[in-house]
Amino acid sequence: MQEEIKRLKLEKNAVILAHYYTPAQVQEIADYVGDSFYLAKVASKTDADVIVFCGVRFMGEGAKILNPEKKVLMPDLSADCPMAHMVADGVIEQMREKYPDLAVVCYINSTAYLKCKSDVCVTSSNAVRIVKSLPNKNIFFIPDKNLARYVADQVPEKNIILNDGCCPIHARVTAEQVLMQKQLHPEALVLTHPECEDEVVKISDFAGSTADIIAYAASSKAREFIICTEDGVGYKLARDNPDKRFYYPQPNPCCADMKLNNLEGVLSVLKNEDKEIIIDESVRKAALKPLERMLELTK
Ligand code: 13P
Ligand code: SF4
Repeated sequence: MQEEIKRLKLEKNAVILAHYYTPAQVQEIADYVGDSFYLAKVASKTDADVIVFCGVRFMGEGAKILNPEKKVLMPDLSADCPMAHMVADGVIEQMREKYPDLAVVCYINSTAYLKCKSDVCVTSSNAVRIVKSLPNKNIFFIPDKNLARYVADQVPEKNIILNDGCCPIHARVTAEQVLMQKQLHPEALVLTHPECEDEVVKISDFAGSTADIIAYAASSKAREFIICTEDGVGYKLARDNPDKRFYYPQPNPCCADMKLNNLEGVLSVLKNEDKEIIIDESVRKAALKPLERMLELTK
């Protein structure tokens, strides 16, 4: 299957992008593997004709928004991030009315429709930097309340309004589960994604995006780590650090949607060029603005 994927990729001038949460077999054959910010940047620069995005729907949509002339395919179009939808109807409009200077800051884990209503996108690796740089005092941060609260802690000079949404996978990790691992591995450092609840971030040695967690583990002198994010990062962590040990709060945080990506799906979309992301042009144009602003502010 790997050989056939390579052949089709060349034949069709295709590129394969995969998030760190996808299964190991997918990360192995991908041309680019990374966190959502890195993958959005790669998607904004590629000269491939076809992009196969192994991740969840908002990631494929992001690639299509940035590349309307390219074919963006996903191995499984039903792979979706539940949090991407978690903003109640009308709430953005209500907030804009209440705070005339409001900036709507949209985590990239959001639908194209929500991006259309937002001023700027962020990812977990640039949210603090971007929010700090905005001239607005009042910020409505959608959809993730946990990342919003993490940003609010780092940027106390802003009034950050939380929205009632969260990642069901990260929100399930508890401080008790982490402390249980800490008892088993007292020397281990706790590295946490800011989508986790405050009680978990507070007892962590480090909080950051998946790429930040991977970079931290690689440069740290410590030998053991408790990883509070989706267990797909384990592939890269183990490959880069054969002498280090990685543990997870139990049960392992696992995003079923990310795991819908597999080699069969990649091969099938490369062959058939189906499962294509299609976005209405007016939605695409409106959703492009906050994405471009994010890329601009992080240059
Ligand atoms: P990153 O921004 O770290 O890639 O995280 C994306 C995501 O889906 C986290 O759950
Ligand atoms: Fe969405 Fe959470 Fe899965 Fe990330 S881990 S894609 S935020 S459900």
